[in-house]
Amino acid sequence: MEIFALPKGFLLGTATSSLQIEGGDRNNSWYRWGQTGHVKDGTTSFIAADHWNRFPEDIALMQQLHLQTYRMSLEWSRIEPEQGHFDSHAMQHYRRELEMLVATGIRPLVTLHYFTNPLWVEDAGGWLNPEAADWFEGYTTYVVENLGDLVSDWCTINAPNQYLAQAYLIGGWPPNEVGLTRYLRAARTMIAAHIRAYRKLHQVRAAAGYQNTSVGTALHLRPFDPKHGTGHERRAAAISDRLFQELFVSGMCEGRLLQPLGSGYPLGEGRYCDFFGVNYYTRDIVNCADAPAAPLGRREVRDGAPTSNLGWEIYPEGLYRVCRRYWDRYHIPVFIMENGTADATDAFRADFIYKHLWQVHQLLEDGVDVQRYYYWSLLDGFEWLEGLSARFGLIAVDPSTLERSVRTSGWFYGDIAKNGGVTTKMLQQYFG
Ligand code: NOJ
Repeated sequence: MEIFALPKGFLLGTATSSLQIEGGDRNNSWYRWGQTGHVKDGTTSFIAADHWNRFPEDIALMQQLHLQTYRMSLEWSRIEPEQGHFDSHAMQHYRRELEMLVATGIRPLVTLHYFTNPLWVEDAGGWLNPEAADWFEGYTTYVVENLGDLVSDWCTINAPNQYLAQAYLIGGWPPNEVGLTRYLRAARTMIAAHIRAYRKLHQVRAAAGYQNTSVGTALHLRPFDPKHGTGHERRAAAISDRLFQELFVSGMCEGRLLQPLGSGYPLGEGRYCDFFGVNYYTRDIVNCADAPAAPLGRREVRDGAPTSNLGWEIYPEGLYRVCRRYWDRYHIPVFIMENGTADATDAFRADFIYKHLWQVHQLLEDGVDVQRYYYWSLLDGFEWLEGLSARFGLIAVDPSTLERSVRTSGWFYGDIAKNGGVTTKMLQQYFG
């Protein structure tokens, strides 16, 4: 293992999402989904990490870890519990949280949509209803008018490709209405919603005199690698890449619809991302030989590869590959919006962090303008279909007492933030 330094100005932080940690909200699509027996371990999001009530303690922990930025999301179902009815108490709550972050010197990056819909949106057809783009714009406008003085950095929609694939292509997530046509239709609406929100966030903040608005998205990106390298597998990998990634990258960054989503620039050609946001966890090995009936083959983990508690391959080079690919295409600053691992006993998280940040260091050496890295996640939280049992946190949360305790890997990450890199002393202390 080698020491390395991150450049001055590089920001290290953590990411979370509202439903996964806040608790206390029943008015959203995921709480309802959990109530109908879909969560493997039977837990619910209703308490989660109780961050709604404990945010001061959590911000104090971030401060103790020297974190410089925090990516959080707002719960639309709390802010607009019924269509057109905005809840000023929810907004006051988020203001208090953001004011505390800013006062502590932690720079917030706020995500507006993170996998959950208010029930009124879900019950009106969710993202299959093209009006969802209008509703999202209304919500965005209210939020930026109320929080725009505190927040300059925004992510419109988190991982629309992951959300829509789970909701409409692979299935398993609400509303679980599987069909390619539905997937594409919802994708068009989300791309339109992103572009409209991008414009709105800039417009409202500019009108209030702020010049430093930065808006992007966070796409869930991974390499698809053919197992045997046959023509069939290479084609299957390329189709997965297009359907799952390229449609969203070009739609959201450029406003360009690729087939089979559409064609041209229905909302105007532009650059609708001020940074390129990457959520990176793993890669997929595409095996067609052993799954002849599956048109896109079977997705596997490389034989003998190290894996997380969820069985995902730990493949740090993949982070380099996805960042490099889109840097070469767009030349806009790269924000690693999520990268993390499920490791309940904290056996390999520090090593995971080291190896992925080493890739960031390599990217920087090679001239890629990576500006931020957000570890996923600050806290153990509600991991969708896995419930509370998948442990991603730098900080462990006891599900019964809700007590927080910083894991060793959390202290390691905190030391990286404090020292601006990895020193010899840290290598001895954590890996010696
Ligand atoms: C990505 C998702 O965006 C996030 O919600 C989830 O917890 C992590 N992956 C880990 O699975």
